[in-house]
Amino acid sequence: MNQSELKKEDFIGSIASIRGLTVEVEVQGTKPDTKELLAVQDLPSAFIEANFFRGSHVVCLNLNNNSEIHCGQKIYRTHQRVTVPVGEKTMGRVFNALGEPLDKGEPINELRRPITVPSGTTSYRSSKKLEMLETGLKVIDFLTPFVKGRKIGIIGGAGVGKTVLTMEMIHNVTRSEKSLSIYCGVGERIREGNELYETLKDTDVLKNTVMFFGQMDATPAIRSMVAPAAATAAEYFRDEEGRDILFFIDNIYRHVQAMTEMSTNLGLIPSEGGYSPMVFSDLRRLQDRLSSTEQGTITSVQAVYIPADDLSDPAVQAISQQLDSVLVLDRSIAEQGIRPAVNLLKTTSSLLTPDIVGERHYRLAEKVQAVMQKYDSLKNIIAIVGENELSPEDRKDYQNAKKLIQFFSQNFSVAEKFSGQPGEYYTLEQTLDGIEEILTGKPAEEKSSEQAVETPKTEGNETKTS
Ligand SMILES: Nc1ncnc2c1ncn2[C@@H]1O[C@H](COP(=O)(O)OP(=O)(O)OP(=O)(O)O)[C@@H](O)[C@H]1O
Ligand SMILES: [Mg+2]
Repeated sequence: MNQSELKKEDFIGSIASIRGLTVEVEVQGTKPDTKELLAVQDLPSAFIEANFFRGSHVVCLNLNNNSEIHCGQKIYRTHQRVTVPVGEKTMGRVFNALGEPLDKGEPINELRRPITVPSGTTSYRSSKKLEMLETGLKVIDFLTPFVKGRKIGIIGGAGVGKTVLTMEMIHNVTRSEKSLSIYCGVGERIREGNELYETLKDTDVLKNTVMFFGQMDATPAIRSMVAPAAATAAEYFRDEEGRDILFFIDNIYRHVQAMTEMSTNLGLIPSEGGYSPMVFSDLRRLQDRLSSTEQGTITSVQAVYIPADDLSDPAVQAISQQLDSVLVLDRSIAEQGIRPAVNLLKTTSSLLTPDIVGERHYRLAEKVQAVMQKYDSLKNIIAIVGENELSPEDRKDYQNAKKLIQFFSQNFSVAEKFSGQPGEYYTLEQTLDGIEEILTGKPAEEKSSEQAVETPKTEGNETKTS
């Protein structure tokens, strides 16, 4: 904080106590606003943020865990909040939650926006025609259509492939789309951030990308601020430049975790499943900021970590409720070497309707779900009596389900370095044909000319396959 501007009338008081990241300042002079950045006398490197008032004290957060802060130091108002740079100049750059560059580039100070103030737009997008984006990943295009302006979650326990799948989506979608991408790394490995940066640089996608990182080494205060920082950048592009944005976040659960750590730090009482109520309201506010308006759209891909592989975790539930599609990754499937390790039964999408995906796609999805359901119940029977005891029809469905599971497995471009296999990209039409072939046992062309009535090609289908 700039020390030359410390004025007498901005004097708040002195530090009364320090506990963890929490700094309590006894108010002797003027009162700061909440979320205002405060200056510590003779310590320009400190970032202190006023959070709330408790009696005559203002409870603040030592954002960077600056260790030189001590009791008795004088605190001043700055009339500023945490801001991040926005706009054209930020493209191709990497920032932390305080808007400082992480890429050795020059700091950007011309155009900045406070991260705690949503742009407050109310002009939500009307039910305009929904546009599907192709990801080239069979299981995503088929079960959780990637629709512009909507939210898709990739959820799973530790090490089941969330990051690799998110990277593959970035690789595939940014390749075909001219739109702007914002990447937000929250509480994950620093190495992964570096790798992504290098990959994007090599593929020339970086110039259309803005990145924000607050990885696992950052304080919970900083980690909880990265997602709002990235949302601020996205809101600016959406509302002031009318752009369509692809927003990737790995990992949104870490945001919840950071908020939880912070509320513990601030002495707030936890409730449901150890999470404080503040965590859930904050999550809703964040998701609300990532919505689409009249001006532009934000399409988000959110990786969600599941603690202890427990899908019923209250935070995981709260996150899932805000997503349009939830792709569930399963450890038992990953162990069989199937990638992406998608649990076809638990994966859901509210966008899988005939209106959006077309009649043919919808019917195939219904059939696949029915077959998978049957497979799930037959599995237990087969374990006891063996496959030969099944009726011919059940046996066929069982075999088809196994074929489908294999069919949805595909090689990733971003995994080439550890799998040695080149990546595969399938158009939606290829995916639908492949599924139809498995379900009917006949090649798709033959089938569609024979029984055109049963699987009519709708308008919706044609627009997506071009
Ligand atoms: N598509 C794939 N092809 C080959 N290997 C893969 C694929 N996806 C994941 N893996 C393997 O699984 C490992 C873990 O994947 P990843 O880092 O994406 O998991 P994660 O769910 O993000 O884990 P965490 O919860 O720890 O962040 C990878 O390092 C890689 O070895
Ligand atoms: Mg990961």
